[in-house]
Amino acid sequence: MSEKSPKLRAALDGIPTYRPGKPAAAGGPAAFKLSSNENPYPPLPGVLESATRAAASFNRYPDMACTALMAELSERFDVPVEHLATGTGSVGIAQQLVQSTAGPGDEVMYAWRSFEAYPIVTQVAGATSVQVPLDEHEGHDLEAMAAAITDRTRLIFVCNPNNPTGTAIRRAELERFLDRVPADVLVVVDEAYREFIRDEQVPDGIELYRDRPNVCVLRTFSKAYGLAGLRVGFAVAHEPVAAALRKTAVPFGVSQLAQDAAVASLRSEDLLRERVEALVAERARVSAALTAQGWTVPDSQANFVWLRLGERTQDFAAACEKAGVIVRPYGDEGVRISIGEVEGNDLFLRAAEEFRAGL
Ligand SMILES: Cc1ncc(COP(=O)(O)O)c(C=O)c1O
Repeated sequence: MSEKSPKLRAALDGIPTYRPGKPAAAGGPAAFKLSSNENPYPPLPGVLESATRAAASFNRYPDMACTALMAELSERFDVPVEHLATGTGSVGIAQQLVQSTAGPGDEVMYAWRSFEAYPIVTQVAGATSVQVPLDEHEGHDLEAMAAAITDRTRLIFVCNPNNPTGTAIRRAELERFLDRVPADVLVVVDEAYREFIRDEQVPDGIELYRDRPNVCVLRTFSKAYGLAGLRVGFAVAHEPVAAALRKTAVPFGVSQLAQDAAVASLRSEDLLRERVEALVAERARVSAALTAQGWTVPDSQANFVWLRLGERTQDFAAACEKAGVIVRPYGDEGVRISIGEVEGNDLFLRAAEEFRAGL
């Protein structure tokens, strides 16, 4: 066998591997997975039936144009079909957006810490990451981001609310920032957790996109809609960005199961809204309980909360796991805890209280 191996692009060297939230150990003591910002509820009956029906014909390729889903989205969000693109989760679309705008020598900017796929998709494209530290309140420092724009900036991710800190940017601040971004730089407002926002001053990205041709909004069916395992998300953007997304899409990437389940979910929004409301109430309960225990908890507008624990991060995560709850540690920065079912949240709160007592 030859000693040589195929030549791979040097840009791939050192790409951080995407680390999914740790699963609950099979047969182990940990029972609650609060590490991936998933919706803890099982699929809604109507949605499950749609997907099951679609499964009966998975010997066929799916509808490549996602016609029914696009029509449903167009009506639901009042945007032309030409301004829509679907993808294999919103992370798939994030990758396509970087591919479409940036290559070697170009810069992709985002706050840090933020969604961990941003550095990966940037490096895969051979572009350079510009990471702008979060401010002291765990939110985007939009002043610093605006100041960091150069003539090499091609794309800026704005994660609203931010994963993993849960903080959200309000309208006036975001509009001021968008006004400062050159018209030829794409701003991707990643609204994966949009449905969990209760702060009325946080803008709807789809409203911002309407008269801003350089704004693209990312949404997903993975979180509030509970379809994480089916992999479907969508983008709203003006031409030519939406057209670029259609060009760069993996053909037939969104399965018929995902398409039909997404349509059924949009039609079951009332029921879904109740579930989201219950998660938002749990978020308030968990945040208040943590604050009462003495922790500093940034206001979260998403389905998770963030604790900046510094060097105690890994010990805290280990203590939670021992108590039966998997949370998400980030190096020596902090821990993100997804809001799950009441029992899991209670178990987590007990573990947090015990950990605090031992400090
Ligand atoms: C901010 C943000 N964007 C996008 C995604 C990707 O979600 P999906 O690819 O499942 O749509 C996630 C998932 O964790 C996220 O946190």
